[in-house]
Amino acid sequence: MRRKIVAGNWKMNKTVPEAVELSRRFRELFEADHLEVDVVLCPPFVHLVPVREVIEGSRIALGAQNLHWEERGAFTGEISAEMLLSSGCRFVIVGHSERRQYFGETDEVVNRKVRRALMSGLTPIVCVGETLDERKAGRTESVVERQVRGAFAGMGRDEIARTVIAYEPVWAIGTGVNATPEQAQEVQRFIRQLIEELAGRDVAAGLRIQYGGSVTPANARDLMSQPDVDGALVGGASLKADSFYEIVRAASLAS
Ligand code: 13P
Repeated sequence: MRRKIVAGNWKMNKTVPEAVELSRRFRELFEADHLEVDVVLCPPFVHLVPVREVIEGSRIALGAQNLHWEERGAFTGEISAEMLLSSGCRFVIVGHSERRQYFGETDEVVNRKVRRALMSGLTPIVCVGETLDERKAGRTESVVERQVRGAFAGMGRDEIARTVIAYEPVWAIGTGVNATPEQAQEVQRFIRQLIEELAGRDVAAGLRIQYGGSVTPANARDLMSQPDVDGALVGGASLKADSFYEIVRAASLAS
């Protein structure tokens, strides 16, 4: 049985004091229960250390939203895996559609970042997903297949096994229109089959695949009750402690 994993992607939101308050409130709610769910907070870079101080000693893990593929050097404005590790991160989101769309990240860039994350001991949360036009054109599977194959190109099964995948249909992100549980299940089963082809049955059976895109407390349980939906990557609803906590609770109820 795969343990559910729920991550909050705060994107470019909150000041440092707001981030501290949000994580403090979430910790209070989360610690009142003993939910069998892995939880990751992914704030902006400058919030990582202050948020780490708030969640230290709890079961809440820290993740970043991006990293650079090189180890160090003259890359003004970039952040390395080692910096993230030394800030307390265990996870890093890679290849989010907003990075692909606004910052030109290609499958090859995603591949390099996934490699760097793994080499450093960070768990990459690898994002894939089709646009509305691609879905309408019946290209969902071919797009997702290209992204998955691209992200893991040249990697062995041990490496693939140390990742998390997030299926985030671009048309569902920030729109209030979530994929139906059936739509999410269909693509996520397809992704798992693809992983089986790339890394074998055992890796595919153990790999966690999150769904992301307009996840709310109202739809979270139905989505995560699907057999191949092992958690959620939450944007907007992770910016409030109560709604994020409700989604974590939904994950435990869906387990
Ligand atoms: P929303 O939950 O705001 O739709 O964002 C999803 C997302 O992009 C998480 O990475």
